[in-house]
Amino acid sequence: MTAQRINPSILSADFVNLQSELEAISTADLVHVDVMDNHFVPNLTMGPPIVERIQGVSPVPLDVHLMISDADRWAPGYADLGAYSVTFHAEAAEDPVALARALRARGARAGIALKPGTDPEPYLELLPEFDQVLVMTVEPGFGGQSFMHDMMPKLRRVAEARARFGLDLWLQVDGGITVDTIGIAAEAGADTFVAGSAVYSGVPEERIAELRTAAAAHAH
Ligand code: DX5
Ligand code: ZN
Repeated sequence: MTAQRINPSILSADFVNLQSELEAISTADLVHVDVMDNHFVPNLTMGPPIVERIQGVSPVPLDVHLMISDADRWAPGYADLGAYSVTFHAEAAEDPVALARALRARGARAGIALKPGTDPEPYLELLPEFDQVLVMTVEPGFGGQSFMHDMMPKLRRVAEARARFGLDLWLQVDGGITVDTIGIAAEAGADTFVAGSAVYSGVPEERIAELRTAAAAHAH
């Protein structure tokens, strides 16, 4: 059975109490940090100084999701501040392969994210350059949206390519993941699950455990 990871998104946490909100998810695998620039997506969250502070106090490693333009310029800095994983959107980089190599050279895992409207085909041959593919299951920008079931064919397509290349690649889903939808995504091949509202709308430790159980029931 493939290992599965639950990565709570602190987008749904209380930003005034980030330290305790991070401590509340110490049983998670990684913490998902959503960086938005009000340009690539119509919302604004945080940048390097805040992410650096999060890195300093988080009990689990950082899974940084960059929803920003000009990723070539900004992404390496997140690897430098110690993020375990840095994911940028396919359209946001001039040269996705060069950027992936720069991230790996700085000791981070390199991830590529695909928005709902992004065709995965042109990126499949680049997968050996990456450690993670993030298939968005909502339009990026906001938490609390509904899971897009019609992204499952894309997820299966990426999972097929991963198997064909024999890659050790994490397949992440982000958006609308709950105890009801996590199994559907696991069934389609996902092994790394981001959940914001589902975790922080209850007791995070309990929610994480419930998500793990639901995902494990559908693991490959
Ligand atoms: C949306 C973000 C997500 C968001 C998910 O653009 O990338 O990480 O926090 O939130 P939920 O789990 O509430 O859909
Ligand atoms: Zn995200």
